[in-house]
Amino acid sequence: MKPFCRDTWVEVDLDAIRANVETFRGHLPAQTGIMAVVKADGYGHGSVHVGKEALDAGADSLGVALLDEAIVLREAGIEAPILVLGYTPVDSVAIASKLKVELTAYSEAWILEAEQALQRDELGPVGIHVKTDTGMGRLGVRSEEELLRVVSALENSSKLVWSGLFTHFACADEPDQTHVRRQYETFQSFIQALRAAGKKLPKVHCCNTAAAIAHPEWGYDTIRLGIGLYGLYPSPYMKERADVPLVPALSLKTKIAHVKVADEPFTVSYGATYTAQPHEQIATLPIGYADGYSRLLSNRGAVLFNGERAPIVGRVCMDQIMVKIPNESAQVGDEIVLYGRQGDEEISLDEIAALTGTINYEVPCLLNFRIPKVYYRAGKECTVHHLLTK
Ligand SMILES: Cc1ncc(COP(=O)(O)O)c(C=O)c1O
Repeated sequence: MKPFCRDTWVEVDLDAIRANVETFRGHLPAQTGIMAVVKADGYGHGSVHVGKEALDAGADSLGVALLDEAIVLREAGIEAPILVLGYTPVDSVAIASKLKVELTAYSEAWILEAEQALQRDELGPVGIHVKTDTGMGRLGVRSEEELLRVVSALENSSKLVWSGLFTHFACADEPDQTHVRRQYETFQSFIQALRAAGKKLPKVHCCNTAAAIAHPEWGYDTIRLGIGLYGLYPSPYMKERADVPLVPALSLKTKIAHVKVADEPFTVSYGATYTAQPHEQIATLPIGYADGYSRLLSNRGAVLFNGERAPIVGRVCMDQIMVKIPNESAQVGDEIVLYGRQGDEEISLDEIAALTGTINYEVPCLLNFRIPKVYYRAGKECTVHHLLTK
């Protein structure tokens, strides 16, 4: 049976994932490990396949935002260390213990409650990474006193093991490095305070992709590699610096479902915002905003046909879009590239992000369970993953 019954799919190049891990491996000091961040289903690329490839290529752990995301990885047979970077409700700590997944903590109250929950269920240890807020204003302890209290609570716990210390940068991808330097200094002063109190430091980490590119010497025990793993730069500024060459891993493709050339002008899509003129060739493509292809691309974006740009005409519908094909050779079933390369042309995720007023991170994350993913290795299809029909 065909693994999927629609003519729209994502292609993920696992060689690109591997190459990006190897590039960071070469860029970082030898003692700095790589945590491959595969939250949000691997930034829309598929957490299991990307996670396995990254580990095989030299990453030594995986990072996710949610315990549920870690469960998916364990169920797929991944045994490497996994850290949940976000908040985990105390009533789920037992699951983390059973699956040997490490959690993030930043409050004494949470630690005491988690300890009680594990004792009640007679469960084994859970590794805890303490998060410090050095200037992100999101999660984390904010003062040395608070940090020492949280660490003491962990040391007094018989069920929780202090396994890591980290922070997250807010502006590492910007030309002005003042904020990130200030955050780094605050993080260092937290480390100093712990040392002064006689604490033996666990695994320390602070760098995301941007900080790892700009400051590899800040890597400590591991970097947390997210967007760079997927071959994308954290900002247009970082892309310009380009001293770390990355290979984008994701393409989005479809096939033409219908072609029409009218003798008379006709309007296209909801709101009749575009009028096709006689002899214009309008193709209908089976993808829409319900797949995560933004409606903001209405009358703005383009796709690639035969290596040339074909502009989107009219509004993006829930399941379909219309494009104007620049010559009259299009046929039902012809391949179209929505994101990625065809011939010498490319529609990058950065371009889509700029057109839709967002960042490249969001563009693949929006592609959802309706779109099957086809994985490639050495230029050959190796596996297909389709959540909708799973
Ligand atoms: C705590 C944490 N660490 C690391 C990352 C990876 O960041 P990036 O994708 O910029 O490398 C993220 C992503 O948002 C994060 O939230």
